[in-house]
Amino acid sequence: MAKLRVGLVFGGQSVEHEVSIASATSILRALDPARYEVLLVGIDRNGGWRLGSGTSPGEALRSGRPVWLAPAGPPGGPGAAAPALMPAGSGGAPPPAEPLDVVFPIVHGTGGEDGRLQGLLELVGVPYVGAGVLGSAVQMDKDLAKRLLRDAGLPVVPWCTFSRAEIDATPEAALRRAAQIGIPCFAKPANCGSSVGISRVDRAEALLPALREAARYDAKVLLERAVAARELEVGVVGNDEPVASVVGEIVPHAEFYDYRAKYRDGRTELLVPAPVPEPTAERARSLALRAFRALEGRGLARVDFFLERSTEALFVNEVNSLPGFTEVSMFPRLFEASGLPYPALLDRLIELALEHAEHRRRVALEAPER
Ligand SMILES: Nc1ncnc2c1ncn2[C@@H]1O[C@H](COP(=O)(O)OP(=O)(O)O)[C@@H](O)[C@H]1O
Ligand SMILES: [Mg+2]
Repeated sequence: MAKLRVGLVFGGQSVEHEVSIASATSILRALDPARYEVLLVGIDRNGGWRLGSGTSPGEALRSGRPVWLAPAGPPGGPGAAAPALMPAGSGGAPPPAEPLDVVFPIVHGTGGEDGRLQGLLELVGVPYVGAGVLGSAVQMDKDLAKRLLRDAGLPVVPWCTFSRAEIDATPEAALRRAAQIGIPCFAKPANCGSSVGISRVDRAEALLPALREAARYDAKVLLERAVAARELEVGVVGNDEPVASVVGEIVPHAEFYDYRAKYRDGRTELLVPAPVPEPTAERARSLALRAFRALEGRGLARVDFFLERSTEALFVNEVNSLPGFTEVSMFPRLFEASGLPYPALLDRLIELALEHAEHRRRVALEAPER
């Protein structure tokens, strides 16, 4: 059987560029070479696409040749017969087009996880792993995500939203509105990730600086009541019939799970499975599936929770459509512990991408005859 040609797309222009390279490195190592031919496609910090000739994502970014992604050409015409990576630039005999069967976009954060990259993949007509345009976009936007979760009857922490314009032009009004949330609270950019731009506010004087800091990363900012909570995470995989993994727990040895605790200090513990009573785990798993559906999940997601210490109430914090994906990241570990080892998880995600593409082909595009 011919090998499946997988475009592993990574890097990107977000604050999670490096995290994405780490995820791609692990995925490349684990994809079965007997089944897949992997094309490494790095998106550099300027947004340029580079096709690697070597074997490491870092090298693809440094010395890969410029390419762009094109839809299939007309039958018999010039260009590739399938969606393909085309050589960019001119001069000399151009290298051949590189057709793709499926794309595994592992670009975390802005531009990669928010529906924009998915929109490009849709237009080009190539099957891809993970949530679609709408699901990616609503899962990325913390304000819209929370509105949809609340609307679906799921528990979320009380919050209010501010525009950067309001914070800049009428800070007193913003502070008056912030009073409904109270202190302590968390200020965060609506669209970001990796805890960038997030701060915990413990006193009134720190409120406005925290809102301004968050507004550096997005024109929309959330203020959320702080909950004294344990942090639980559940993996979800599937399309129409998603399944939930066992529950994991994050134990940051920091005031909260900030950027340092996520990537730098090496002290954060990932407990799989989480040491919680079975009914709590079952509740988290069931909420995770409901949250996945409420936010148009597809393929995969990691659903993050707060388990309030005093009340044992669970709140859905966020749903991540492209969670960290190194072998030691929470998402693959959750499925490993659920009986789906890393390479089999990758096989399953690619299978789900192809399955969805097949469903899509069956969507009628013609207007009904009158
Ligand atoms: N309302 C809250 N109460 C308590 N801790 C919070 C709250 N919001 C965020 N945090 C802390 O900040 C971290 C990052 O916030 P999160 O909303 O998950 O943003 P990101 O998308 O950057 O991961 C959380 O994992 C948690 O440690
Ligand atoms: Mg988070």
